[in-house]
Amino acid sequence: MRVDLLTLFPGMFPGYLEQSLLNKARTRGLVDVRVHDIRQWSRDKHHKVDDRPFGGGPGMVLRVEPVVESVEAIRQQGGQAARLVLLTPQGRRLTQGVVEELASVPQLILLCGRYEGFDQRVIDILQPDEISIGDYVLNGGEVGAMVVIDAVIRLIPGVLGHAGSSREDSFSGGNRWLEFAQYTRPREYRGHAVPEILLSGDHQAIARWRQEQSYQKTQQRRADLLDPAASPPDAAPRKELP
Ligand code: ADE
Repeated sequence: MRVDLLTLFPGMFPGYLEQSLLNKARTRGLVDVRVHDIRQWSRDKHHKVDDRPFGGGPGMVLRVEPVVESVEAIRQQGGQAARLVLLTPQGRRLTQGVVEELASVPQLILLCGRYEGFDQRVIDILQPDEISIGDYVLNGGEVGAMVVIDAVIRLIPGVLGHAGSSREDSFSGGNRWLEFAQYTRPREYRGHAVPEILLSGDHQAIARWRQEQSYQKTQQRRADLLDPAASPPDAAPRKELP
């Protein structure tokens, strides 16, 4: 998958792109992430891309020409059907379902806004998929774009070490239960012991215990995720066992 980031702050990305899973995915050729400075498409000798809003008001607005022309140039470079996403608090909310949708395209162009927003004609002309990462206002779309990339790359075949890991994530493939508790060595720390059942070697019993944990945690913390007609823990529908 190819991901193009369009931003006024390209310096925000290298640290993130060069770490961990994403760096591995890039070096293995599974994702090709390119960061572009929208100022490159400015017609102004000082590389200005914003201006005061018509009608007055505080702040600055991103001009239509550099933004539209940057997206057009990148679409041409990619040579494939790219999905254009604009990160904005006014967009549809990012969920695992939306992430799955985005992970299925060959090229994503992530457009990060700043200031008071874009000239409306950017949206009218380019008709992007407007996405919000939550009901709060960030200083710009860059952190939202990192959230989108982070969630999307987990779903690209070969990116995760263990093939099943992303399928077992909370919220994936209709799974709406929160994760069960995990433990590793030591078996006891400051009087806190690992639950006996995890040491039993009984895989069926362990799987059952984990499902119950998952269900109870969801009921306590995020009852809104459960089907209103949900069965009690004992009769809870069993997820496929590993
Ligand atoms: N830009 C500013 N706030 C945002 C949000 N909540 N989601 C996506 N992009 C944003």
